[in-house]
Amino acid sequence: MQPSSRANPNAPQLWLPAEQLARFAAADTDAHRLFTSPQAWIERFGDDLLLSYKDDFSRADALSGLAEWEQLTGFRHRRLFGKFIPMHNEERVAPVLIEGDGTAPLATIVRDSGTQFGVDFSAGYSAGLFIDQRANRALVRQSGGGRVLNTFAYTCSFSVVGALAGGETVSIDLSRKSLDRGRANFALNALDPAGHRFIADDVVEVLPRLARRGERFDLIVLDPPTFSRGNQGRRFQVERDFEALLVSALELAAPRARILLSTNCTRLSGRALEGIARFAFKATRRSADFHTEPPLPDFPRETGAQTLWLFLRN
Ligand SMILES: C[S@@+](CC[C@H](N)C(=O)[O-])C[C@H]1O[C@@H](n2cnc3c(N)ncnc32)[C@H](O)[C@@H]1O
Repeated sequence: MQPSSRANPNAPQLWLPAEQLARFAAADTDAHRLFTSPQAWIERFGDDLLLSYKDDFSRADALSGLAEWEQLTGFRHRRLFGKFIPMHNEERVAPVLIEGDGTAPLATIVRDSGTQFGVDFSAGYSAGLFIDQRANRALVRQSGGGRVLNTFAYTCSFSVVGALAGGETVSIDLSRKSLDRGRANFALNALDPAGHRFIADDVVEVLPRLARRGERFDLIVLDPPTFSRGNQGRRFQVERDFEALLVSALELAAPRARILLSTNCTRLSGRALEGIARFAFKATRRSADFHTEPPLPDFPRETGAQTLWLFLRN
């Protein structure tokens, strides 16, 4: 669809085709993008929508396109939230309600290929589920379980699908609150969180500790933030620290383990992730085949997280 209200005809815009909306419904998925432009995008979380925008002009443009898209597809949102994307991370703010019932609970449940996840528009900048990881979650779900290590776990979506695949999971995140939301996500999917481990600590410190104890994992998720502060205020900067993080993770990787490398850092391309992996393999005498999931139907190229799977050979 090309809404007639497009203000800048040269800007690439993508509205989700009605046929893809139907495919998501058939796949039991109601968390996906429905619009992307360089300066704004709209995500669907169940009956609610979240518009992220970098300037007021793009916000207005997306909103008029949305009215047309809903007319065309028959989709009707319950509530619309808006989130301004600032230039600097420290200026980030939580979403605000633009349209809909202001008294309804801000927490809701969405479905991702049949798996349920809690979403909370009052929880801060991120609502609780990264929809651009859909294909990687599906790959974990098909992985056959084993021992799953989910680092920077946030609300534990990778752990939930690992557990649904029959795996024993360990989730690590600095935020106790996020891990509590992770436990709730386990319960939502009839999984007993008591059978899984949740470690509220700094990944950089926990990985060597697990290695010293001789723990080994069949699947490891490494999806660090671009920048964060860990224990004792230690800075983690993904471009500088991803290689050392992967070297630590390789110490924990069982033979033929699968490792997911993922980043939202726009300065790290898929190529750069391959380069990081090659250096880490040299240091640890491991080797792997590279694998990338096909692009998602709701994300234009070069949008969403950069991800690379390592299927270890030894
Ligand atoms: C980008 S989110 C991860 C998203 C997650 N992989 C998913 O798909 O839902 C980053 C998470 O890393 C956590 N974090 C940041 N620095 C950390 C550190 N040094 N050790 C452990 N967790 C950290 C944050 O609390 C946040 O929950």
